[in-house]
Amino acid sequence: SNGELGDWIRAAKATLGDRVVVLGHFYQREEVLQHADFVGDSFQLAVATQSRPDAEAIVFCGVHFMAETADLLSTPEQAVILPNLAAGCSMADMADIDSVTECWEQLEELYGTEPDASGRVPVIPVTYMNSSAALKGFCGEHGGIVCTSSNAETVLEWAFERGQRVLFFPDQHLGRNTAKAMGVPLERMPMWNPRKPLGGNTETELEDSQVILWHGFCSVHRRFTVDQIATARAEHPGVRVIVHPECPMAVVDAADEYGSTDYIAKAIAAAPAGSTFAIGTEINLVQRLAAEYPQHTIFCLDPVVCPCSTMYRIHSGYLAWVLEALVGGDGVPAEVLNRITVADDVADHARVALERMLAAKP
Ligand code: 13P
Ligand code: SF4
Repeated sequence: SNGELGDWIRAAKATLGDRVVVLGHFYQREEVLQHADFVGDSFQLAVATQSRPDAEAIVFCGVHFMAETADLLSTPEQAVILPNLAAGCSMADMADIDSVTECWEQLEELYGTEPDASGRVPVIPVTYMNSSAALKGFCGEHGGIVCTSSNAETVLEWAFERGQRVLFFPDQHLGRNTAKAMGVPLERMPMWNPRKPLGGNTETELEDSQVILWHGFCSVHRRFTVDQIATARAEHPGVRVIVHPECPMAVVDAADEYGSTDYIAKAIAAAPAGSTFAIGTEINLVQRLAAEYPQHTIFCLDPVVCPCSTMYRIHSGYLAWVLEALVGGDGVPAEVLNRITVADDVADHARVALERMLAAKP
């Protein structure tokens, strides 16, 4: 039962003490998050990874790309553990190194590789954190950088200072919403189609481009609609609508505010009692916030429950399993299960791209 699993997890954590640190993303189930030493959005968790260099193991309750990032930012001795190896991210899978490389080669052919008079290179690649380590490595190797939903604007500014344009992958929505908020016109944001030469765009469109968008999206955030926002406003006058920037542009435009998971949590925490919120993000976070702030009315924009099915693959059974393996005992040797490691040939480049992000300041 969940109660028993909770007891096992607490017992294993007590035995391991400072040897282990458990990190949990905001989208994780409550039964998992109650055991986390740090809870946060993907940027905060990347930073938290470096907060305990003494711990032998980092158990990452989140998805695969987050665990890879933790491996890149932790010490070589530390083992990063993903309790269920099947916890991936369908958006991250929408850009692979081969198609991005092919796109890059076509862009190089079109724009060349020489900087302009002000020293800006033709294209800077920017990858959303929600991507494989190989793509972070690609960015590190080609003068690019990583962003998260909480620093996308800062990172795009960094990129516009160094490049005439940006190739942004995998999430078209985060790229479009962020660039639009910075004043980039939509007609200067063509979308790249990896199945067509030049992405199906004309050379003129690409010449004029400022942000070239990849076609990826999040299947959870794609479900939110402008109609849902209209219904929420009709049924709850005065409602504050906050959505995640992975939502489609029309939804972000119709909302009152948008931001990362941490932004949403902080906005609710800071509101006067009796506020009403309609939230466009993953259901586990919305339900936890609703339980945590009974003085507010908080509901999910999507009336049909919308969990992130891969985040949901981490449950307390897996957490108990990997922690108990670290303890060992009864003649069973201690063991690191489900370790996530990034191959050396991409790790150095990927770390460069992550460190550029950590150093980029608003
Ligand atoms: P945050 O960076 O806002 O935590 O988002 C991560 C994510 O996967 C959203 O779907
Ligand atoms: Fe990936 Fe979307 Fe799940 Fe976030 S919510 S981990 S982007 S599938």
